[in-house]
Amino acid sequence: MATTIYQGLEVLYTRQQIAERVAEMGTQITIDLKGEKLVMIGVLKGAAPFLADLSRAIQADATFDFVATSSYGKEQRSSGAVKLIKDLDHSIEGKNVLVVEDILDTGLTLSYLRKLFLQQRPKSLRIATLLDKPSRRIEKIEADYVGFSIPNLFVIGYGMDYAERYRNLPDICIMPPGHPE
Ligand code: IMP
Repeated sequence: MATTIYQGLEVLYTRQQIAERVAEMGTQITIDLKGEKLVMIGVLKGAAPFLADLSRAIQADATFDFVATSSYGKEQRSSGAVKLIKDLDHSIEGKNVLVVEDILDTGLTLSYLRKLFLQQRPKSLRIATLLDKPSRRIEKIEADYVGFSIPNLFVIGYGMDYAERYRNLPDICIMPPGHPE
């Protein structure tokens, strides 16, 4: 890779591979929607690029909303406690909801959000995640749409960060342990 931001980073999925998979996911979601309307809920900040691309691969009358959560601490691994730091702008009662997440890891975040959203009694609630790390699961939760299932690696790029950096990498890269910041 030519740019210094990529120095020492191994690419796991290229932008082309991501684009192809996102297009396939969009087609499947369109089929499953059967012409109904959709509310796409992005989990900030990591899901922003995925939501932007996935939404344009879905043929439906769709709106966007966003939530933000934080797990306490800045370490690479989730510390266990999830806190809502930005709530939905609009009610999702009676709506078809698609929660859009960058990566399903321990499942703590999506379990928390699913419980929260179901309290509003949406018509349907599905989850789309670009990446899934099933070996890391603590909470019993699966996504309805998974881009790629990956082993226990820490990844960055295409929205995903390490200490808020690297979100703008167009490819998904592996963050090696002990990588210099
Ligand atoms: P979970 O609550 O453990 O499922 O983790 C969800 C959140 O942890 C994701 O939305 C990411 O923000 C973050 N996360 C988990 N694994 C990674 C990773 O490999 N790279 C970057 N962020 C990650």
